[in-house]
Amino acid sequence: MNNSGIYVGLDIGTTSIKAIVCENVKGQLNVVGVGSEQSAGLNRGIIVDIDKTAVAIKKAVDQAQEKSNVTIDEVVVGIPANFLKIEKSRGMITIANQSQAREINDQDVIDVAKETVMQSLPPEREIIDLKADEFIVDGFNDIKDPRGMVGVRLELHATLYTGPKTVVHNTKKALEKAGIKVKDLVVSPLAIGDTILNDGEKDFGTVVIDIGGGQSTTSVIHDHQLKYSFIDPEGGQYITKDISVVLNTSLASAERIKRDYGYANSDTVSEVNTFTVDVVGQSKPVEFTEQYLAEIIQARVEQIFERINQKLQSIKALDLPGGIVITGGVAALPGITDLAEQYFGIHVRAYVPDQMGIRHPSFTQGFSLTKFEANLNEVDLLVKRALRDNEAIQSHDDESHSGSFRDSIKSSRIDTQKRRAHQNAPEQQRAQSKPKDKKEKTDRLTGVKNFFNDFFN
Ligand SMILES: Nc1ncnc2c1ncn2[C@@H]1O[C@H](COP(=O)(O)OP(=O)(O)OP(=O)(O)O)[C@@H](O)[C@H]1O
Ligand SMILES: [Mg+2]
Repeated sequence: MNNSGIYVGLDIGTTSIKAIVCENVKGQLNVVGVGSEQSAGLNRGIIVDIDKTAVAIKKAVDQAQEKSNVTIDEVVVGIPANFLKIEKSRGMITIANQSQAREINDQDVIDVAKETVMQSLPPEREIIDLKADEFIVDGFNDIKDPRGMVGVRLELHATLYTGPKTVVHNTKKALEKAGIKVKDLVVSPLAIGDTILNDGEKDFGTVVIDIGGGQSTTSVIHDHQLKYSFIDPEGGQYITKDISVVLNTSLASAERIKRDYGYANSDTVSEVNTFTVDVVGQSKPVEFTEQYLAEIIQARVEQIFERINQKLQSIKALDLPGGIVITGGVAALPGITDLAEQYFGIHVRAYVPDQMGIRHPSFTQGFSLTKFEANLNEVDLLVKRALRDNEAIQSHDDESHSGSFRDSIKSSRIDTQKRRAHQNAPEQQRAQSKPKDKKEKTDRLTGVKNFFNDFFN
């Protein structure tokens, strides 16, 4: 980490909008304030009513501002992985002719990055991000930073992330209406993978599942890159709805009992523990067992897992050595890692941010955005500048675009925020914890190899 200052991550989720204010002090990212407000105008991760979402964004940012005592004028915002495309892209520029070879500078990096994105995109798609994989100077490859080197020809091999124009536009527009500038747009699972996995997991390959309120996002990270991401259109809201329908209670009370008494794995829940709930048409609260509640929850979680499992199997991603890391609000359900291990038959762990004030997996996304941005190096920033310059050329009449990418970050007085952490209930010990179908080592290696062939080249 080398970019000191204040970073604000904005996670526009289906159920809540989270604004996380972090201060980067000598590489240490400290949370100094959090705003979390109920969402509005979203359906399954996508903004469908810009005005309503803008109001909710403003509330979340105002709250974060108040808690942190930091003036927030720009945020790093996550773009969901719906219809995300990840492509390889190449660009090349001539630095000088043979007799005048000169040192490569910042502007050359920007220029070659611009060349890299100079490809015709379908009209309904928009570039979200571009990440340099390697630079090549006069045929010498695998260069991470070409500046200061002497050469006549500079090439860039990069990864290009594109999304539906509507999704990107609606996000920018909602922020514009909320009066907040976009410091950077980041593909959500790119930031999450970068933040919650350790070096080995990123390198050898790991699956990340973010189970939110409106949808579940599964991503495959390997070789330190996001290789693949897909969406399942169900999340915690469906669990709440099931509880409400089965127990004949309001959505609000279903949500409450899910959080207070919910378990994802009914095998591990005692039959004797009970709770009461207001039931429609009954004058007195009705008693149910926690085991019954767990059965309702488990049925929906298994349905989500089943669809994810089919997709992961089809790309052989379950053979990746890193296993699965689950996060997102639903990961707060006790017993979910055990259930996932039974289901997918591989090692599963849950990720919960461990910073004070954000100890809940709902905050993973917002925090990841700040960490991702704070970790960008100078070359990353130049490459991103090329993207924003291009954007400004394409829509020079829209000031919010050209003026949005700023190098400097204003910071002001900071009070340590004292928001109480929401701790995860301890995970239940699972009775039968053995993965269902453990594979032979050789099978696993073959599978990993096939996966590499299919997706990594
Ligand atoms: N302790 C808990 N037990 C069970 N479920 C929980 C708990 N805490 C939060 N949830 C559920 O997590 C979901 C919200 O998670 P999250 O904040 O990650 O979603 P989101 O970002 O708003 O939505 P999405 O990512 O789908 O757009 C809600 O459905 C909520 O009920
Ligand atoms: Mg989310």
